[in-house]
Amino acid sequence: MTDSILITGASSGIGKALAFEMAGRGYALGLAARREDELKQIQEQILARHPSAKIAVRHLDVTDYGTIPEVLSYFSHAMKHIDIVMVNAGIGLGEKVGHGKFDQARKTIETNMIGAMATVDAAVAYFLRQGKGHVVGVSSVAAFRGMPGNASYCASKAGLAVYLEALRAEVYKKGIHVTVLYPGYIDTPLNNMIHNRPFLISVEKGAAIIADLIEKKKKSSTVPVFPWNIMGRLLKILPVSVIAKMA
Ligand SMILES: NC(=O)c1ccc[n+]([C@@H]2O[C@H](COP(=O)([O-])OP(=O)(O)OC[C@H]3O[C@@H](n4cnc5c(N)ncnc54)[C@H](OP(=O)(O)O)[C@@H]3O)[C@@H](O)[C@H]2O)c1
Repeated sequence: MTDSILITGASSGIGKALAFEMAGRGYALGLAARREDELKQIQEQILARHPSAKIAVRHLDVTDYGTIPEVLSYFSHAMKHIDIVMVNAGIGLGEKVGHGKFDQARKTIETNMIGAMATVDAAVAYFLRQGKGHVVGVSSVAAFRGMPGNASYCASKAGLAVYLEALRAEVYKKGIHVTVLYPGYIDTPLNNMIHNRPFLISVEKGAAIIADLIEKKKKSSTVPVFPWNIMGRLLKILPVSVIAKMA
């Protein structure tokens, strides 16, 4: 049977590039995001490159929490079954605490954390019935240390990472793998307005690294592995006087 992956946030950036990468590796694809027109264009582009690819697309807003189980059920039928759910949909707005931007902070948590948790919950319910599966959550190196101007984003990514760690222990020996990814800077519309993006890699390279990590069923990894595996440890111990200058 063809391996299959459902990717949320597949209309842009990492999710889109991973769709191309996984199609090239022979996976059946389920692509979800709010912009269904973008998904249909991506479907056509992938089919032009890989004519035998099996691709289903469907609108999904991960903040419409109650709809997620039904959308997952749609994909499980359209793709015959789902092996991997890539919990990737996310936003990065950036705001300072106490500057009248609480709505943005709330939206960030609602999308990146609660939306991701709702996606994971529906995926795990499906995988428990199926008796196997693989949840891949896209956290960030921002989970390693709260950064000024990004409190809600860092909190959302740290929250998701800890949630997935707990899940890994819950589903231990139940045939369900859990991978937590911590990308550094990958060139996408999420961050291409930022001037300083250390150790930036292209989205195609990021997708290829992520696909390798998924196929190896890694428990967790930075993306790329080096230098962010070292930088992650460093970020945790840097004094606040240094972190404060990173605004
Ligand atoms: N790029 C990086 O350097 C980097 C680093 C660390 C972590 N990440 C994480 O990687 C993930 C992908 O980001 P990206 O860089 O590829 O950004 P991107 O190009 O902006 O893509 C974000 C994707 O998320 C989808 N999305 C946003 N809100 C959604 C919602 N409410 N419901 C469903 N889909 C939603 C968007 O699709 P629609 O607008 O069509 O819904 C889009 O497909 C995010 O979780 C981000 O935090 C990225």
